[in-house]
Amino acid sequence: MSFLRKYLPVLVAFFLFCTVVGAQIVPFPYEIQKTVVADSAVVVTAHPLATSVGLAILHKGGNAVDAAVAVQFALAVVYPQAGNIGGGGFMIYRGKDGQTAALDYREKAPAAATETMFQDSAGNVIAVKSRLGIFASGVPGTVDGMWEAHRKYGRLSWGELVTPAIELAEKGFQITEQEAKNLHAERYTFVRQSSVMPAFVKLEEWQAGDWLIQKELAQTLARIAGYGRDGFYTGGTAMLIVNEMTKRGGLISYEDLSTYKSVWRTPLEFDYKDLHIIAMPPPSSGGIILRQLLGMIEGYPLKTYGFHSVQAIHLMAEAERRSYADRAGHMGDPDFWKVPLKQLTDTAYIRSRMADFDPAKVSASAGIQAGKVKESEETTHFSIVDAEGNAVSVTTTLNDSYGSRVVVTGAGFILNNEMDDFSAKPGAPNLYGAVGGKANAVAPGKRPLSSMTPCIITRKGVAWMVVGTPGGTTIPTSVFQIIANVAEFDMPLPDAVKAGRFHHQWKPDKIFVEEGAVSEEIMNQLGAMGHIVEPRGPIGRVEAILRLGDGRWQGVADSRGDDAAGGY
Ligand code: GLY
Repeated sequence: MSFLRKYLPVLVAFFLFCTVVGAQIVPFPYEIQKTVVADSAVVVTAHPLATSVGLAILHKGGNAVDAAVAVQFALAVVYPQAGNIGGGGFMIYRGKDGQTAALDYREKAPAAATETMFQDSAGNVIAVKSRLGIFASGVPGTVDGMWEAHRKYGRLSWGELVTPAIELAEKGFQITEQEAKNLHAERYTFVRQSSVMPAFVKLEEWQAGDWLIQKELAQTLARIAGYGRDGFYTGGTAMLIVNEMTKRGGLISYEDLSTYKSVWRTPLEFDYKDLHIIAMPPPSSGGIILRQLLGMIEGYPLKTYGFHSVQAIHLMAEAERRSYADRAGHMGDPDFWKVPLKQLTDTAYIRSRMADFDPAKVSASAGIQAGKVKESEETTHFSIVDAEGNAVSVTTTLNDSYGSRVVVTGAGFILNNEMDDFSAKPGAPNLYGAVGGKANAVAPGKRPLSSMTPCIITRKGVAWMVVGTPGGTTIPTSVFQIIANVAEFDMPLPDAVKAGRFHHQWKPDKIFVEEGAVSEEIMNQLGAMGHIVEPRGPIGRVEAILRLGDGRWQGVADSRGDDAAGGY
């Protein structure tokens, strides 16, 4: 019996290697398709190999959820900066029958976590402690989330969905130029934060086309293929995580792992004009912010103002300022904090928030507080529709690029640094400059507040758009702008995704604008109104699918990265 238990994953992996579709064999350099128009099905992800895995699963008879599970595991191998098994995420599902679901597989604070664990004895925040190293990680949720999604909606066998990832980890794959640069930039941090030299570090500089082989990760994935969620949360993998914690004084215990559970939540659904939006409720702030932003602009003639006009940017930024003040004041894990969801998403309340909006003048963030109610920025998103009309929108993360940079010895995967999404102290900014208070304070077993905004949008009762993006607190504003670009400014999806983006989050009191996104003249005019406008690097990497007028699907992968669309 114990012999069988020991060797089952190896036997399963061997069997599956023999039957796997083999579609991940994509020649290097990868031919990256940014836009695809397809009759039946589309997959858009952050990496061409993950896109090809998703398509192969669909070709094999899998549905959109099967493809999503396979893509999640494949990204954990080929896109280590955000793809993960050591992190968490959210899935929005809409079936061909119109049934909707929201899956929360967000990380949780370990049972031994405390509200002040990221403060020193004088009450000062120790920022690095929540961002790097052994204390930065919440209990990972990804494997349980995929297990739950598959149990509820999957059609192919679990093992078939994990196997492409095993193969990519075991045999390796060639890294892109962007990945080579990122891995090289992080080499010292990986060495400092890991007990042994991880596969992500090599002595010479990483080059495009180098092979990344992750044998230990392949073994971990084989345990997951063989034993399902238990292959991660109990037994060998769990012991490796606990050993890492014990060696370095970390908090995640065997019990934290074995008791982790993802949660099916009621999706946050609302209308904007003729669109019906299905989004994530808390512990993500994303759905509420999107609801508020669309509600705040609905009464204004955005289209007449024009794309990236001063009036349009001013209106949208002022809406963002107000919504992010609500985020800071009212939002947190609903299992621990009474989030006033009904009031925050109420039309009259949302309109009242814009009562002091002045179309000619900026409002000071200091003068705006959360409404009075009776309450390197990395992540990755993928969007999938299958030939039957099921749609899946997933945003998943380690939080920062490569998370805590702690690679679990013997298990080969990176742990998240999601603890930084909590408020280390009321008013203290996190990695994204976002502030929060009691609603989002650290507590044992609590999930940190997120901004991830995976969405599915229907029009006239049929799926119309599947969309999402990484980008920390900029996520809801990027999704907001994609919807505005298509629904208000009538842009084709490729232009809507390519268009420059901007972001305001109440504090800091600035509009961040992607370098070159708006003209000097518009920036000067916004400045004259009282806005502080600060150029910055890329905002988000949107992966979106849109139903075209003729009923076909258009998939668009963001040109800001190696993101790839595919379909048939
Ligand atoms: N870690 C980024 C987010 O969840 O919003």
